Amino acid sequence: MEITIIGAGPGDPDLITVKGLKKLEEADVVLYADSLVSEELIERAKPEAEVMKTAGMHLEEMVEVMVERVQQGKKVVRVHTGDPAVYGAIMEQISLLNKQEVHVEIIPGVSSVFASAAALGAELTIPDLTQTVILTRAEGRTPVPETEKLRDLAKHNCTVALFLSATLTKKIVREFLAAGWSKDTPVGVVYKATWPDQKIVRSTLENLDDDMRVNGIRKQAMILAGWALDQDIHSKEFKSKLYDKEFTHGFRKGVKQ
Ligand SMILES: C[S@@+](CC[C@H](N)C(=O)[O-])C[C@H]1O[C@@H](n2cnc3c(N)ncnc32)[C@H](O)[C@@H]1O
Repeated sequence: MEITIIGAGPGDPDLITVKGLKKLEEADVVLYADSLVSEELIERAKPEAEVMKTAGMHLEEMVEVMVERVQQGKKVVRVHTGDPAVYGAIMEQISLLNKQEVHVEIIPGVSSVFASAAALGAELTIPDLTQTVILTRAEGRTPVPETEKLRDLAKHNCTVALFLSATLTKKIVREFLAAGWSKDTPVGVVYKATWPDQKIVRSTLENLDDDMRVNGIRKQAMILAGWALDQDIHSKEFKSKLYDKEFTHGFRKGVKQ
């Protein structure tokens, strides 16, 4: 017995994968987190499919429904926002399902971190500037492990993507400054990336907290921080070796001048 967890993408119903959409269209039972997955996408399910919103359900209830339906021979899918592998809380579902001998297939999705980078027109890894992206969250009611405090992560000076942190910008600014970041470090915020009411706010570490307040952003926002977000990056001389004519690799021999 198997159920499928599908990454729905960040919001725009066209951003689900072809494989994910096929599974959704074939499903007899669809469970989805209603506040974060577009209704328009869920409407792609068969008219006779049983569709359940999970926001009001607790974990055991959700798992019980999935196990019961799959035991009845139905095709069950659980639709998650973005990519299920980041802050998807899927592991707790998978372990309960596995205990009941239900296996789980996972179909990846476009995470909001990449949809937000696209909305900002940004590349998160810029040659000679940073080659690393840290995906994390600021510590609020949910604790983060001792070795993953924002101040320590920020010391890497790479691009940092902050999920679930829209109400914690004061803390973010404090921690980044303490790690040695300059006040004018660019920060890009995307509220509801790819939804019709998407909002883009370009800010700096110094102005981030005020800009979030002025724009009324308190949830569903991706905060991308670091010099890769510099709007003037195009005018600077950062070039990847991949397309450098002097640089050879497996697919292209060097060009002789
Ligand atoms: C529970 S996490 C789920 C993340 C999801 N698995 C992903 O890959 O995007 C929810 C957080 O993801 C971010 N998020 C999800 N969808 C978003 C969107 N469309 N635009 C901006 N941020 C989004 C926000 O930081 C939000 O607080």
